[in-house]
Amino acid sequence: MVSSGNAALFGSSHDDTSGAALDLADPAAFVEHDPHAYWDRMRRGDPVRWHPPVGSRPGFWAVARHRDVQDCYKDAARLSSARGTVLDVLLRGGDSAGGRMLAVMDRPRHRELRQVMLRAFSPRVLGHVAEAVRRRADALVTAVVGAGESDAARDIADHLPLNTVCDLLELPASDRPQLLEWNKRALSSESAEGDPFDALEARNEILSYFADVVRERRRRPGEDVISMIADARVEGEPMTEDDLALNCYSLILGGDESTRVTTIGALHALGTHEEQWHRLRTGEAAVRTAVEEVLRWVTPAMHFARTATVDLRIGPAEVSAGDIVTLWNISANNDPAVFTRPRRFDVGRDPNPHLALGHGPHFCLGAFLGRLELSAVLDSLVRRVRRIDILREPPRVYSNFLFGHSALHLRLD
Ligand code: HEM
Repeated sequence: MVSSGNAALFGSSHDDTSGAALDLADPAAFVEHDPHAYWDRMRRGDPVRWHPPVGSRPGFWAVARHRDVQDCYKDAARLSSARGTVLDVLLRGGDSAGGRMLAVMDRPRHRELRQVMLRAFSPRVLGHVAEAVRRRADALVTAVVGAGESDAARDIADHLPLNTVCDLLELPASDRPQLLEWNKRALSSESAEGDPFDALEARNEILSYFADVVRERRRRPGEDVISMIADARVEGEPMTEDDLALNCYSLILGGDESTRVTTIGALHALGTHEEQWHRLRTGEAAVRTAVEEVLRWVTPAMHFARTATVDLRIGPAEVSAGDIVTLWNISANNDPAVFTRPRRFDVGRDPNPHLALGHGPHFCLGAFLGRLELSAVLDSLVRRVRRIDILREPPRVYSNFLFGHSALHLRLD
């Protein structure tokens, strides 16, 4: 391991709001501070920073510049996803789904499985999902307009992404409330009070639910996505039921939380930037560019991570085989080398080469669907809403991975 030299700058205290002492492995650092001052300093002075080990916790690299983050995403041959792609998981020894679930898999298996799963996102499959997304988004927004105070998380964002994935997987409406409840519990370890055992139990419930669905679809195949994957061969072999269940779950994991917090983030950003809401509402800026700016502004997945398979150079740093490398989308998406006035929320920003959906071989599989859901919500807001009043400062999700708010009290008029 060769450090980029500034490890001494790095401490464990969170008192310094300028960001000099943020511990990126600690969710508290992200909730207690606005880390943008930290990213600015890092991009300028130490863009690939080594975070030394703390006790038994391994050290890791943090990459801050847009160009370096993008290059790392492309370099799947030397930067592996198979041990895990989230810092917390890597620091705890790696992902048990490594090599079995699309997001945490390397070539050649990744390329084959991705081809199979991409069929789930073909125009034929997405055609009927798209119509349902637009209808659902419009009904959810309409129910809140003029209804006084509401929590946009509970009343709008909770319902759209999970139902969209369930439409894609053709899961019956009667199963969905249970899936939503499990999914919330599965992610509850991301709050400071969350119980990790309860979260694990909920994850197991979801996996065993999908194992049953997979068995059923193998017996009676249909035209749906699960039947499609269940029938496919990867590296010449049919997939096991456990691996199929994992990959169904990965669509919920990938599709639910990120889209949910981005929807909440969109309402928050538009409600707190009146002039931008005006530009969008009057058609001066398009929904298409607003969706991209919301994705950049929120950057719900603040980082993704890789493990170096060989010694390599990233920017000024010499990284050793086996090192954990974290790619900070949140920093890349605010890099002034790429974005003019990055801390300005600008619904007309174009071009907008943000990395909120990743880049390269693991680029978000659900990008089309995520964008579709966000445009459906914005379209409906533009048609039905004049004023967005945010009534309270919303609580932040407790995480160093996911950026977002767990509730948003507002009034739509
Ligand atoms: C991958 C973000 C919506 C499924 C990714 C990655 C990012 C991302 C950054 C790259 C991960 C990496 O490189 O390791 C987002 C955001 C979304 C969103 C911000 C919404 C606003 C969705 C939806 C689905 C989905 C709706 C599915 C229905 C996936 C899957 C992968 C992925 C399966 C793994 C792809 C692979 O490894 O080849 N997403 N995502 N995502 N996303 Fe999304």
